[in-house]
Amino acid sequence: MTGIDYSQKIPNNVDLAGDKRLQRALEAWQPNYLEWWAQMGPTDFNTKDIYLRTAINVGAEGWAHFGYVKMPDYRWGIFLAPQEEGRTVGFGDHFGQPAWQQVPGEYRNWLRRLIVTQADTEPASVEQQRLLGHTAPSLYDLRNLFQVNVEEGRHLWAMVYLLHTYFGKDGREEAEELLHRRSGNADHPRILGTFNEPCEDWLSFFCFTMFTDRDGKFQLLALAESGFDPLSRTCRFMLTEEAHHMFVGQTGVGRVIEKTLTLMKEHPERDVRDFGAIPIEIIQKYINFWASSSTDLYGAEISSNSANFFRSGLKGRAYEEKQADHLALDQAYAFENFVDGRISKEEVPLRNAMNEVLRDEYVRDNQKGIDYWNRIAERLNSPVRFTLPHRRFNRKIGCYSSGRFHPATGELLDESTWQAHVEQWLPTAKDKAYVKSLMKPVYEKGQYASWIAAPAKGIDDKGVDYEYVKLA
Ligand SMILES: [Fe+2]
Ligand SMILES: [Fe+2]
Repeated sequence: MTGIDYSQKIPNNVDLAGDKRLQRALEAWQPNYLEWWAQMGPTDFNTKDIYLRTAINVGAEGWAHFGYVKMPDYRWGIFLAPQEEGRTVGFGDHFGQPAWQQVPGEYRNWLRRLIVTQADTEPASVEQQRLLGHTAPSLYDLRNLFQVNVEEGRHLWAMVYLLHTYFGKDGREEAEELLHRRSGNADHPRILGTFNEPCEDWLSFFCFTMFTDRDGKFQLLALAESGFDPLSRTCRFMLTEEAHHMFVGQTGVGRVIEKTLTLMKEHPERDVRDFGAIPIEIIQKYINFWASSSTDLYGAEISSNSANFFRSGLKGRAYEEKQADHLALDQAYAFENFVDGRISKEEVPLRNAMNEVLRDEYVRDNQKGIDYWNRIAERLNSPVRFTLPHRRFNRKIGCYSSGRFHPATGELLDESTWQAHVEQWLPTAKDKAYVKSLMKPVYEKGQYASWIAAPAKGIDDKGVDYEYVKLA
């Protein structure tokens, strides 16, 4: 069954009505979720009609319906990709065995931990973005923000469904906890670092959806390989929605770049600040910050947890089917370790390097986004080029966190060199204040803020001047 039952309190394609106990448990969680949304979501826009897409089918074609919805009326539901007949575990020690439809007892705690960690990022990002609507550069962007927000809310539902269905009492407790942690709260923070960083301006939002949601893509790709079939099916459908979030980020930064470069060309003698645009160096610094912070989300280079998750068939590699050897038992992974202040080439058993393997894919994908931005510069005949910061740069987790490294070359730096240059590499208080000073709402149809170009086209074949949010 791929169609979604909207007659239910909780829309779903998992035959929730056939499991009364589970249905009651989720219906009991629902008001708590709505209470969290009422406190921590973009609540100042609750009464507005927004042109949103809602999932109505999980098939490859026509899965989304577009129409005006008030966010609290959004149909958050539980949608899993169709079950594949005869699916087997695709990697690790259980390779080739039938995929699990129930939680394997010996892996219960690891699996719960993986699900909770993924789940926690979803409400966190809604919290981080909750005030951005007040400074949206256009109705088009405002709508995209809210689309991302409601879908992150749905991703929380997706994970809570797994916790409630397969983990009993402790799963339900975890589901409650997910509504109680708060992004950036010193006493009760979200689990992962980047999800506690403030995201208070739209350049940060676009960098977040470009780099941090892209981490989400690769985590979901790795979990979509899981031998625990319900997790795999959940993540496969989440990936469909996630693609739009990264589109928002990549094209968002691209439009900021386009605006700045266009002004530089028209007024070569002037500072783009005079026209209310964002200088190239500030854009690069924001890229440096959000890319490096999101690179941390993969964890340490060498990790026994990552080996355990792989060995047990719970979390694979992205695109596992492309790998020649799904056991990864006798292979080694070569990487540059940083120990005692020195970089040295090292080989570790591949299974222990699964975090780094996933990070490799992530870095490659990020570079494609950078290339896209540089093509915008080429098209505008500008010599400006953007760079992805080296993976050693500005790390807080893993071996490189104990050193200082150059953003472009990855070269080891001493502390005084770092201090002398850090203001050229990462956003300063002054940069942030300047970007924030530009954040004034533009709510007229077809109008765009001074610091961003209009998009090439609108959403769902609507124009760039469509009334995506009815504010009146
Ligand atoms: Fe998400
Ligand atoms: Fe996302």
